[in-house]
Amino acid sequence: MASSGVALCFTCFLLLLVSFIHASSLHCESESSSSSSCTNPNKHPLVNGLSWSFYESTCPNLDSLIRKHLKKVFTNDIGLAAGLLRLHFHDCFVQGCDGSVLLDGSASGPSEKEAPPNLSLRAEVFKIIEDLRAHVHHHCGSVVSCADIVAVAARDSVFLSGGPEYKVPLGRRDGLTFATRNATLANLPAPTSNATVILDSLASKGFNPVDVVALSGGHTIGISHCTSFTNRLYPNQDPVMDKSLADKLKLTCPATNTNNTTVMDLRTPDLFDNKYYVGLVNREGLFTSDQDLFTDERTKEIVIEFAEDQSVFFEKFAEAMMKMGQLGVLTGSNGEIRGNCSVRNQDYETFLKRYEVEDVEEDKSEL
Ligand code: HEM
Repeated sequence: MASSGVALCFTCFLLLLVSFIHASSLHCESESSSSSSCTNPNKHPLVNGLSWSFYESTCPNLDSLIRKHLKKVFTNDIGLAAGLLRLHFHDCFVQGCDGSVLLDGSASGPSEKEAPPNLSLRAEVFKIIEDLRAHVHHHCGSVVSCADIVAVAARDSVFLSGGPEYKVPLGRRDGLTFATRNATLANLPAPTSNATVILDSLASKGFNPVDVVALSGGHTIGISHCTSFTNRLYPNQDPVMDKSLADKLKLTCPATNTNNTTVMDLRTPDLFDNKYYVGLVNREGLFTSDQDLFTDERTKEIVIEFAEDQSVFFEKFAEAMMKMGQLGVLTGSNGEIRGNCSVRNQDYETFLKRYEVEDVEEDKSEL
């Protein structure tokens, strides 16, 4: 009797296991592109005009063109992956994922990239995006937008740094305008913000607390300038910050306006993993906006869960990135496909002339 009961239990267990494996494989198989992941792309509806197979006939190798190029770039400097991820965040949060952060200034005013939060975007990432655009347009023609290239480059930056792979719906078009300094400041929360400010600001864009904590996990790679966190060192040391970290940071940043940088995830600064959350649990978060996620009761348990289980973090991060990547996108006949990521097509002639003049002047000065 007892042995048949054990056999029955064992069979039940096997059946459960088989159905679980089957369910997870369906989950992965439902995706079409080569860079598929196990994150279900159909979980959230896509905004109108975006699709999972947008360039299937016009640029079928888009994924591999971008990934191969970035693999080479990251062999020299993996830190640029962090720069590209942040670029996508700054593009999407201000006026939607429309490539407006890439535009140079014009007669209408200084560009979005000249607004204070964007000044610490790495200069190299703008060049990488333009190189990718040239490479992709060379192979496929001018059919892929700069905004889509930024989104795919961010996804590959996460994946090539060790993070989850997720699919990026495509079909974004490039914007014809850039945001003002004030709009940029209003849409990118400051690192000195507490959890209430961050939660409210992101809720206004449709993110729930799990999304907020997951997106902040972007800080598992990359660096920060002293000026983004010296409010926690001077004039008084933030008592929440681990004392030995604060002492170390004071050496890197001896004054509030020092131009030095430090890594954001002390344990594995170049690896996209869940150690950022382990840092928060140990009161080693760099910004108020990071550390307060562990102090605030609404987000504390989420931080702990991500610190304990990397796979949950990866799943939630991928979902939140899919949401972020669809913010305010231009699709269909709105916007355009820029032939150069830093200028609108209608300004391209003027742009070329300006560079011709600058080249001639440089040549003259060399004589
Ligand atoms: C939620 C509010 C956020 C705030 C307040 C914030 C703030 C900051 C600040 C102040 C820096 C350092 C800038 C510097 O001093 O050089 C930074 C860096 C960075 N952020 Fe965020 N961030 C936020 C959300 C995000 C999101 C959603 C992502 C991506 C999913 C992200 C990815 C990054 C990355 C990768 C870096 C490092 C960049 C590099 O090394 O070049 N951040 N962030």
